[in-house]
Amino acid sequence: MSDREPPPGPELAALVDSRREGHGLPRAFYHGDKLHAAELQAIWHGGWLFVGFAFEMPNPGDFLTLDVDATPVLVIRDDDGAVRAFHNVCRHRGTQLCREPAGQLRAIVCPYHRWTYSRNGALIACQGMHDGIEKSQLGLRPLHAETCSGLIYVSLAATPPAFDGLRERFEAAGKPQGFDRARIAKVIDYDVDANWKLVWENNRECYHCAPCHPQYVKSNFDIYEEEYASAAVRQKIAAAIARTQSKWASPGDAAAHPTGGLATFPDPERDLWYTSNRTALTEGFVTESVDGKRVAPLMGDYEDADVGVLRMRSLPNFWLHASCDHAVATRMLPAGPRKTRMRSYWLVDQDAREGEDYQLDRLLPFWHLTNEQDWDICKWQQKGVDSIGYVPGPLSQRKEYNVDAFIRWYLKQVRA
Ligand code: FES
Ligand SMILES: [Fe+2]
Repeated sequence: MSDREPPPGPELAALVDSRREGHGLPRAFYHGDKLHAAELQAIWHGGWLFVGFAFEMPNPGDFLTLDVDATPVLVIRDDDGAVRAFHNVCRHRGTQLCREPAGQLRAIVCPYHRWTYSRNGALIACQGMHDGIEKSQLGLRPLHAETCSGLIYVSLAATPPAFDGLRERFEAAGKPQGFDRARIAKVIDYDVDANWKLVWENNRECYHCAPCHPQYVKSNFDIYEEEYASAAVRQKIAAAIARTQSKWASPGDAAAHPTGGLATFPDPERDLWYTSNRTALTEGFVTESVDGKRVAPLMGDYEDADVGVLRMRSLPNFWLHASCDHAVATRMLPAGPRKTRMRSYWLVDQDAREGEDYQLDRLLPFWHLTNEQDWDICKWQQKGVDSIGYVPGPLSQRKEYNVDAFIRWYLKQVRA
């Protein structure tokens, strides 16, 4: 958050307390600058953020940049091959250093007065400055960075939460998918005209899937919470599980979700901000494509196409769906109270060649369409919750248990 804007304090506590149990968040949560600043401090500057993939920057000097709201971040591979992160801000007069989204650098040179930093963040030249400048005190301000299973995470916190739990879970889950042997087939950026919480709330339920995603619901059992499903649907779910579950057998599949409906996440009471699970696809679908047929060569260790879908997610900004042949990862970054920047990455095996092994017009539509449908829903919901006519309604205990869990997780973070 901005250092000049104090958190709302007692006002915030009153606002948190104003949420009625089992209901959506009150109107004030979706557009206030002060509240947004408090969220940045508590959540976006406090937790671990997914920023991209290690294979996007394989060589020393390769970098990528991102903006966590108003805070520019630089992620760069150093001379020893380690991934490092820094505030992307010059130590002289504060200009943003790297302006490109990605690239390669021998050294980090500030465009303003040419102060020059090594790829390890040390200030190595500041020609024109007077004698006595302590270069060793003026290196780039480091941020915490971690990589696991091909994913890069950074934290802006002075003391971030433990990363080991996520690492253990994602390395086990991601191993058969081979994220370290993947490449990007396509990246699409989306600007969503909605508060970031609305995007998560939408992600955490499939109550909307039947009306809003007619193509998505054909591939999976997300809309069928087993205890409320008909006998015929329960039979279909059991058959799909029986058909594929033996193929899931690997350490990463310990967290399988062999039922309908969405697996529960997050778990605010146990402070679980990351998870993974594997679900079955419906008869006729071996991947999340429009017609259910394979759209690229098998990834990772898979020897059979019929392995369901591996799902991974971490709060506050990452989710991923991985089929036998491709994976779609989505990164979220806030950009003010009413704007959220989403980026989806379509991954395929590192040896797969566009035009020969896969076609983008078959690979992209399933998730590109689902994304656009979701962002449109979020935009219209933002318009509604901005209205003085909005009063939070009840959440379905059958279908929106994860929206409730997300809200409880969120309130716990901002209250802390
Ligand atoms: S602001 Fe970077 S060198 Fe002056
Ligand atoms: Fe959706």
